[in-house]
Amino acid sequence: MKLIMLGPPGSGKGTQAAMLKDKLGIPAISTGSILRSEIAAGTDIGLKADGYISRGELVPDDIILDIIERRFKQPDCEKGYILDGFPRTIAQAQALKERAEIDAVVVLNIRDDVIIKRMSGRRICKKCDAAYHIESKPTKKEGVCDLCDGAIYIRADDVPETVKNRLDTYHKLTEPLLDFYNDKLRKVENYNGIDAVFNDILETLGV
Ligand code: AP5
Repeated sequence: MKLIMLGPPGSGKGTQAAMLKDKLGIPAISTGSILRSEIAAGTDIGLKADGYISRGELVPDDIILDIIERRFKQPDCEKGYILDGFPRTIAQAQALKERAEIDAVVVLNIRDDVIIKRMSGRRICKKCDAAYHIESKPTKKEGVCDLCDGAIYIRADDVPETVKNRLDTYHKLTEPLLDFYNDKLRKVENYNGIDAVFNDILETLGV
């Protein structure tokens, strides 16, 4: 199965993609997560992407398409994948269309004011990029990732001003994808708890 998780920043794409990955046995590919690893490793891609991410802007399409092309060549993608945070522009969606037939696009609906509240409580693992929340999904041990024992931190782009820019960017450049994928959309409200939303996704996908 080839799935896209679409929705504004902080709408729960990464949280749900990680759960779907375990359920479906296919990789979850997060371009944001790959970019953060490149930045941490100080690679050329990381150096180029850093400024865009800290301003809440999109990284240029050519960098993203290069990352995706390399990731798709890895053997774990043969049975399918869950794309989290890609595509984000019409140009990226067109490039993907030439490369793969997508089965469904899960859209997580959530209001901007709820997102801003959720982002302020989000915590991330420095090592594996797993997302937590101080209220709705706390780590079992404070400051330590449940999955890999990595240290927990607050993402640099989760500061309120950058979150606002990310939301503006989403509405302007990514929302048009709702029309692009009109016939494949599976809309899910993301106001309930994480497990309830996961069940809604499974139901809409029929898995
Ligand atoms: P990326 O890392 O993809 O960020 P994003 O799309 O802004 O999404 P987030 O990771 O912020 O949120 P999410 O939807 O995964 O929500 P989460 O599950 O964490 O990208 C970062 C940057 O990289 C971009 O701004 C851009 O610059 C660049 N980039 C990446 N891909 C690109 C591309 N294709 N093209 C160009 N540039 C690109 O959940 C959020 C919080 O809410 C968590 O704390 C979670 O625990 C909590 N939560 C989730 N669901 C629920 C629930 N149901 N109830 C209560 N709490 C919940």
